[in-house]
Amino acid sequence: MKIAIAGATGRIGAQLAALARSQGHDVVEIARETGFDLLAPVGLEDALAGADVVVDVTAAPLEVAGDFFPAVARNLGGAAAAAGVPRTVVLSIVGVDRSPDYDYYVAKLEQEEAYRATAPGVVVLRATQFHDFAGQMLEWNTQDGVAHIIDVPTQPVDTREIVKLLLEVATGEVEGDVDLAGPEQENLVEQVRRLVERARSDVKVEAVDGPPSMMGGSMLPGPDALLRGPSWAEWLEQEG
Ligand SMILES: NC(=O)c1ccc[n+]([C@@H]2O[C@H](COP(=O)([O-])OP(=O)(O)OC[C@H]3O[C@@H](n4cnc5c(N)ncnc54)[C@H](OP(=O)(O)O)[C@@H]3O)[C@@H](O)[C@H]2O)c1
Repeated sequence: MKIAIAGATGRIGAQLAALARSQGHDVVEIARETGFDLLAPVGLEDALAGADVVVDVTAAPLEVAGDFFPAVARNLGGAAAAAGVPRTVVLSIVGVDRSPDYDYYVAKLEQEEAYRATAPGVVVLRATQFHDFAGQMLEWNTQDGVAHIIDVPTQPVDTREIVKLLLEVATGEVEGDVDLAGPEQENLVEQVRRLVERARSDVKVEAVDGPPSMMGGSMLPGPDALLRGPSWAEWLEQEG
């Protein structure tokens, strides 16, 4: 198949491109690094000509997410429709429809809606937090030796499982929208404390309130979600 990957140079995108190529697929890489700015695309329709599917795994920082995600969805979805690409796969996040108090999730929900309004054959894969999310939270939220971490339940998943399922959805092996999580529930503050202990760091971890929806469990998978891959603790052992 010919698979166009928007965000092909990112963490998920690069793994997806490698896996798709290893299975014999033809991959079109779409990112600013490969000459396509999806906020002001030029030549996108030509690049998508003959593609069987477009997969969107782009990302932007929280500060610009509200503008970025719906705009990229309209531009890429519109180009996919014009080029006659029959299927568009979007990587979203479990809980985006249950967190109206968190701007990034609101933007991701708008991204899903914008795709459904513009592109044919839209399939949404919502995944929970990546296993390295707790490490990112530690890095981003530590100041003067104190990490302020939101006290929320999560059920993180291995990115390798996300990539495998994205490809299964892209090729039509798995049909319809799907939610994906790892096998075990965690608490973000406890995860970060564990990372600090492992690193024998003297950073102090303080629990802080997060968006009420998330503190109430909006990031957790529902009963129909697929649960795949190693738990966070198993992943940490393998990685560490
Ligand atoms: N982090 C989590 O725990 C989590 C959980 C579930 C779902 N997700 C979702 O997973 C998706 C992928 O995340 P990631 O961490 O793999 O992202 P990432 O590593 O930050 O990669 C982002 C990709 O988007 C491309 N991009 C950014 N701006 C662009 C633009 N204007 N035009 C074209 N391409 C652009 C980047 O390439 P260039 O810079 O070269 O343009 C890069 O290839 C995101 O949508 C995120 O919401 C994340």
